[in-house]
Formats: sequence, structure tokens, C-alpha cells
Amino acid sequence: MSDELAGTAARDPSDGLAVLESAASTAETFGIPLAVLAELTHRCPLQCPYCSNPVELDRGSTELTTAEWKKVLSELAEIGVLQVHFSGGEPTARKDLVELVQHASDVGLYTNLITSAVLLTRDRLSSLADAGLCHVQISFQGSEAAPADRVAGFKDAHRKKLEVAKWTRELELPLTVNAVMHRQNLQQLPDIIQMAVDLDADRLEVANVQYYGWALKNRAALMPTFAQLEETTRLVEEARERLKGVLTIDYVIPDYYALRPKKCMGGWGRQFFNISPQGKILPCHAAESITGLEFESVRSNHSIAWIWQNSAAFNRYRGTGWMPEPCRSCEFKEVDFGGCRCQAFALTGDAGNTDPACTLSPVHQQIFKQAEEESAAGVTRFLYRNFAGGTLEPTDDGA
Ligand code: SF4
Ligand code: FES
Repeated sequence: MSDELAGTAARDPSDGLAVLESAASTAETFGIPLAVLAELTHRCPLQCPYCSNPVELDRGSTELTTAEWKKVLSELAEIGVLQVHFSGGEPTARKDLVELVQHASDVGLYTNLITSAVLLTRDRLSSLADAGLCHVQISFQGSEAAPADRVAGFKDAHRKKLEVAKWTRELELPLTVNAVMHRQNLQQLPDIIQMAVDLDADRLEVANVQYYGWALKNRAALMPTFAQLEETTRLVEEARERLKGVLTIDYVIPDYYALRPKKCMGGWGRQFFNISPQGKILPCHAAESITGLEFESVRSNHSIAWIWQNSAAFNRYRGTGWMPEPCRSCEFKEVDFGGCRCQAFALTGDAGNTDPACTLSPVHQQIFKQAEEESAAGVTRFLYRNFAGGTLEPTDDGA
């Protein structure tokens, strides 16, 4: 165990949290999260227009090496992290994935693979299972091949995903189907739910797009109408009731239509951190979109535990002491922690403002109206995600 944690190990982390919140101060001592997202690479064969990666993607040449990732995984296990979620970009684009899963498993970490699946062969998936992989989460762009492949910007992606999902269950790995929903695929939801049942998935995530990074650039093409959202909520509730004991359904609504914001990441620097391909320790996957914050790297002289507990970026919006009004005197401030810092930055230019998803934010009405107008404007053309800063979907006349 690293020395920075020596003084905290004997304490119940929830005590540290209570002290912090009652003092409404920045953190000096914070329990290490149980789960960490390891973004192994930003490389990906797909080009989804809602990708949660930053618009400025990390190049392959800057990625942590195999030895660096192994050191990180050992350190995570040593400080008390229990689960690592391998993500990207596309984590299977890393040639060393089996070796990394094996190492994570050897040091006692539970491993989850969050994948688009299109690069996997049965042999490689089987090697991952042999290396100790515990769970597979496959993203789907819809229930029908042609429109799903159009969203992914990748030919034959949907068929490949179905094949890999089948292999996953044949290898007796638990499966989560992750369905990212937006105006152009919400009408497929009943079929997506049935697809998850047919694939023998344990869990389905019906995740409406959240609008930062690439999704913000594509908001007009993706934003659902309010009527679509109401129908989606009805369908999810009906399916949850009907499929009790068969399929667990998680449901995330688009923030713009919410009354109160989501407790993003469980609160900034409170329950979660993310490691970027080049080794930056981040409070969330979109944190680098906030300009003016410096994020420490695992390549620095600091331990991961020190970065989590002491770095300026984590302490900037931790707890409740940083909050402006209306959050400062709000009864929900310890329920949602003021919502999402990245969304506040994207929509107001200041990450320290109340998340505009909240009805009490002075700009909430404005973004609600904007969402309604954009969803009705009929824009369908995507800007595909790539290292070149995005490519507009070709039109029928080849433009
Ligand atoms: Fe949450 Fe702030 Fe809105 Fe209160 S005012 S509900 S704390 S975002
Ligand atoms: Fe960064 Fe919400 S995505 S705080």
C-alpha cells in the first residue's frame, strides 16, 4: 500500500466523506473508488457521432505502454480498487489486451470489457475469457443492420456485434447490451429490447445520448423530441415489468428534458476516476473538455492515490464548498452535487455554474427550448468522429 494512503487505511472512508461534506470543504482524505474506467486507447474503427471521447483524441503514439498499464493495474489493486472497466475508443484495438486482462486478473481485479466488438474473433474472445475476463458489454447502434451501420459509420458492424454477443454467451460470460438512443433510432426501442432478450443478455442499458464532445457537435441530428422521450419512458417501464427476472433495464434520459440534473459520476472526485490513454487521471471521461484545469498523469512522480486525494483538478469541484447559488442553498446539493461540470462548461462556459439541466439554473428554459427546436428542425446528417476532427456524412449527391 502506498504511503499516501497509510494514514487513511484504518479509517472508514464514509467517515472521511461525512467530515468533508459537513465542512463543505475540499478533500484531504477520500476513499479510493471501487471501480475505475481504463480508456486503453482512443483508436476505434467506428465513427459514432455521439462518441463520449474528447474531440481532441489522444494519438496512438502517446498511449501508455504495456508495462505502464501493468504498473497502473498493480497500483490500482494495491490501493483498494476492485473493478477495472477496459474501454476506449476500442480497447480491442490494443494488441496487448489479453496480456492486460491477464495481469488485472492476476492482481485480483474484476474485469469488464466495454467494446464495439467489431475487431473480435472467437479465438481472441476465448483467450480473453481464459485470461480471466469477467464481463462483456457490447454497444449497439440499433436493431436493424442498415441504419445501425450508418450510425457507426462502419460496414457490417451490426452483424458482427450479434455474432460476438452470441460467442460471449457460448463462453459463459455475462453480457450487457448497451444501446445508445437518439432521435434517429428511438423508434427501434421495442426491437432492441427483444434483441437483448434473444441474445440472452443479463442487462440492457437504454442510454440516451448525453451532449458533450462529439454529441454536442451532432446535437441537432440526435436530440429526441419530448414526445419521443415520453414514449420511451413508457416503453421502458412496461418492459421492466414484463421482463422481471429475465432482463435488467437501466435507463438514462437526456439531461435537457430533465427537471433536476443527474448526479454525474456520483459527484466530482467522489466515487470514480478515469484513466485516459496517455495516463491522465480524470474525474470523468469528458473532463479534459474543461479548459483551465490541469490533470496529473500516472507518468508524473505522484502516486495514483495522491492524485485522487490531493490534485487541484479533483479538489476544484469536490464536495459542496465550491457551489454558487442556487446550488449553495439548495436542499438537493448533496443529492446531485450540482449535476455535471462538463455540461455546465459546455453550455455556460464556466464549469462552476449550476448544470443547466436543472430547472433552477437561470439558463434551463433556454436549453429546454433549444432542445425542442433542434429536435423539430429535421437535421439528420452526422459529423462522424475521427482523428481528423470529424467528417460530414456524405449526401446522396456525393457532397
Ligand atoms: Fe441540484 Fe443545484 Fe439544481 Fe439544487 S440547484 S437541484 S443542487 S443542480
Ligand atoms: Fe464530466 Fe459530468 S461528464 S462531470
